[in-house]
Amino acid sequence: MSDIGKTDELCRLDDDKAAAGIQKLIDAMPFYVILVDEDHCIALANQATAGVLGRDVREIIGGYCPKIVHGLDHPFEGCPLEEVVAGGRAISKELQNAKTQAWMESVIYPTSLKTVAGKRVYYHTVRDITEEKRAQEAERTSGAKYESIFNSASEGIFQTSVSGQIVTVNPAAAEMLGFATPAELIDSFPNIGEMYIHPAEKEELSQLLQRQDVLVAYEVRMRRRDGETIWVSLSFHRTRDASGAITGLEGMAVDVTAKKNAEAGLRESLSRLEESFSGLIGALARTVERRDPYTAGHQRRVATLAGAIAGKLGLPEEQLRAIDMAATVHDIGKIYVPAEILNKPGKLTETEFDLIKAHSQAGFEILRDIRFDQPIAAIVHQHHERLDGSGYPQGLVGKDMELGAKIIAVADVVEAITAHRPYRPGLGIDVALDEIRQNRGRLYDAAAVDTCLALFEAGEFVFDYS
Ligand SMILES: [Fe+2]
Repeated sequence: MSDIGKTDELCRLDDDKAAAGIQKLIDAMPFYVILVDEDHCIALANQATAGVLGRDVREIIGGYCPKIVHGLDHPFEGCPLEEVVAGGRAISKELQNAKTQAWMESVIYPTSLKTVAGKRVYYHTVRDITEEKRAQEAERTSGAKYESIFNSASEGIFQTSVSGQIVTVNPAAAEMLGFATPAELIDSFPNIGEMYIHPAEKEELSQLLQRQDVLVAYEVRMRRRDGETIWVSLSFHRTRDASGAITGLEGMAVDVTAKKNAEAGLRESLSRLEESFSGLIGALARTVERRDPYTAGHQRRVATLAGAIAGKLGLPEEQLRAIDMAATVHDIGKIYVPAEILNKPGKLTETEFDLIKAHSQAGFEILRDIRFDQPIAAIVHQHHERLDGSGYPQGLVGKDMELGAKIIAVADVVEAITAHRPYRPGLGIDVALDEIRQNRGRLYDAAAVDTCLALFEAGEFVFDYS
């Protein structure tokens, strides 16, 4: 037996012209093609096959396939050709080479071609599918991973078509909306648009989606199966196909009802707290002013001017509220100053003046334990401090002062100079404005001074002595 097994001229194709045409055709194939008869004799083989075997095509033709391809003197066990010959039907097998781990797809099917000996010819292709198998495996693994995440996630996951048709939801999404299974949810709400309770929210959402592809934590009200309303936080993106055309939406849904309720409760208790705090502040302010009729209305006027300055400076809402509260009670510490000193018409002695000066500290002591998210007590403490450190009680410099205190300091001085005092008549607004103008940036905050001057000069602010 030759090194290519038994050679058989008779297993040539019976039609030379057809053989030449087939040869051309199969030579163009990038994988292995062999035409073999039922006795495993090779009738034709392509260049790819000859190449991998290190032979010339003409050498292979007429050879014994098991010998040439596998180096065997007989068909290997499970040879697919035997099966096809026996069954008369095409078969396809994927075989892995134990040594190289490479995967081959072997396809054999009967043809109507015959050899010169009248034997049926079978078309046999072998294709390396290792890469395809790897890709499939990777996809299967990631698919399995995704499926596991999809099914076990505590967040709802969904996909919709362009028209809002729900394509997929996971068990968490179904449960969130009161359904036993994803299928039940899809049957009841085939379109995601039907799940929104408020048309305005649905409309806003669809308008946002016209402008952007991604939406994060958009909170919207949805209807559960039992009719209950829940707040759902939606985060999703538009999905697109390979050509970039929009195919729908894909994203997550989280039930945030508990969080929303807690927020609402907190807002309510905060506003109740603020209301009672404002009430308390008002009561405290009146207490001081009853003992000190000459400064009656002083705190309110300072609060109005400080608020106007702070508003012009563009401070945020909560800071404006803090400045208003602090200014309304900035002299609260005067309840510890003896009434006769507060109301003394003449000049004060140094000791008396020291007692008056203690009111900033006393105010701080009164307010320090009231819990508030803004530094009301500190602002009151600092309202007589000056930028250059010449103020009291701590001798702070500008950088250590609260902005609210700097603003109130300006408003306080302007109001105090303008108004009547037990020991002198009011000096008028021009004197007051001169004081802050001359000490702008030295004693008083420049921005607060500029804003205050602008307010008076433009006639946008006047004190209300009613
Ligand atoms: Fe004061």
